[in-house]
Amino acid sequence: MENNELELENQKPSYEHFLEVKDLRTSFFIPAGEVKSVDGSTFNVDKGKILGIVGESGSGKSVTAYSLMQILSHPGKIVGGSIKLEGRELVGLPERELAKIRGGKISIIFQDPMTSLNPVYTIGNQIREAIMLHKRYTVPCKIKKVTRDENGNKVVTYEDGFKEVKPTRKQANDRAIEMLELVGINSPEKRLKQYPFEFSGGMLQRIMIAMALCCEPDLLIADEPTTALDVTIQAQILELIQSIQKKMGMAVVLITHDLGVVAELCDEVIVMYGGKIVERGTADEIFYNPKHEYTKGLLRSIPTNENTNERLVPISGNAIDLLNLPKGCAFSPRCPHAMKICLKQYPDERVVNECHKCSCFMYAKELYDKGELELVNESQENTSKEGESDAE
Ligand SMILES: Nc1ncnc2c1ncn2[C@@H]1O[C@H](COP(=O)(O)OP(=O)(O)OP(=O)(O)O)[C@@H](O)[C@H]1O
Ligand code: SF4
Ligand SMILES: [Mg+2]
Repeated sequence: MENNELELENQKPSYEHFLEVKDLRTSFFIPAGEVKSVDGSTFNVDKGKILGIVGESGSGKSVTAYSLMQILSHPGKIVGGSIKLEGRELVGLPERELAKIRGGKISIIFQDPMTSLNPVYTIGNQIREAIMLHKRYTVPCKIKKVTRDENGNKVVTYEDGFKEVKPTRKQANDRAIEMLELVGINSPEKRLKQYPFEFSGGMLQRIMIAMALCCEPDLLIADEPTTALDVTIQAQILELIQSIQKKMGMAVVLITHDLGVVAELCDEVIVMYGGKIVERGTADEIFYNPKHEYTKGLLRSIPTNENTNERLVPISGNAIDLLNLPKGCAFSPRCPHAMKICLKQYPDERVVNECHKCSCFMYAKELYDKGELELVNESQENTSKEGESDAE
């Protein structure tokens, strides 16, 4: 038995990043065709870090989150790529194994708590159930060991060891109280006996956070966790997620429309458009030194301390139709700097600096040097100056 354990230990896969997502592709197969909602995403997240995912509505943020959890609704399917957690491949794992990982190692907080909480059960019932399902305590125990003596007779001995046990009802209740206290809910014993309708939106979102964290996940996915709340409560909830993340040292994937949130909370950011990652980098790089026209557009469309007196400008043009993607760069119909090459070829990811990458031909220095970056028409001449100097 000891040898077996040793062997298993040696077989543990080695890994560089806690979560490693490579070329992830998720599609919805609808009568009109294949909707490529996530189309070749590659990113990593480490413990103690927050990765932000930003993008317009319909860009593939939630589908990325649901793919990580493998909770895609029909007719959605992961059609390619890899999701590795601590080096272990999750794509293709049997549902039984995935169920252990969900709620245990990975937890998700949804945008709308009312869709995740059952209105006919008390909050206590629902939190305790999550704890009973996924939380395990390690307790000391005696491990039976059977060997044979020189005459071939069985010899039974007992050694000190540990085993994992389900919590008792009392332990689950104590843990639920502890979690409600952690997320700032007063009188937790009384609150556990109440139903979801007896709470405000902000309180329910705190309860969702408590449920997501009660089993101490290693990876927390928060999909627009504050969109349904008013601004002051939003700030409190985000601070709460950040402080708990620091305390527990989890890896966090935070999905948000709000680039201000990204600048404040995230370490790294990926920007999605039409199911693809078009820009990535540290939060400071993306916020203060955006390169992709789409990211610049997202930043112009949100209120910041700097632009309080300016008009907010939405990104011009129609939102993308994933069933009718243009050839080349998907952003070209909306991009003021579109060049002839953008209409023919997809721009591969280019290095802007060591902590910043961007999928745009304006940063294809080799093409710029060869004079191959021709504008679609002359009227763009002035608007393109900025991009050209960036490429230089
Ligand atoms: N159930 C579904 N059936 C068909 N297509 C879907 C389904 N769910 C998502 N999609 C497609 O996947 C795309 C990405 O959806 P997703 O929910 O990830 O967007 P999002 O970036 O989270 O947007 P939002 O900010 O509005 O939440 C959508 O534009 C849609 O075309
Ligand atoms: S310049 Fe070309 S590649 Fe870059 S965003 Fe505009 S259309 Fe896309
Ligand atoms: Mg979404």
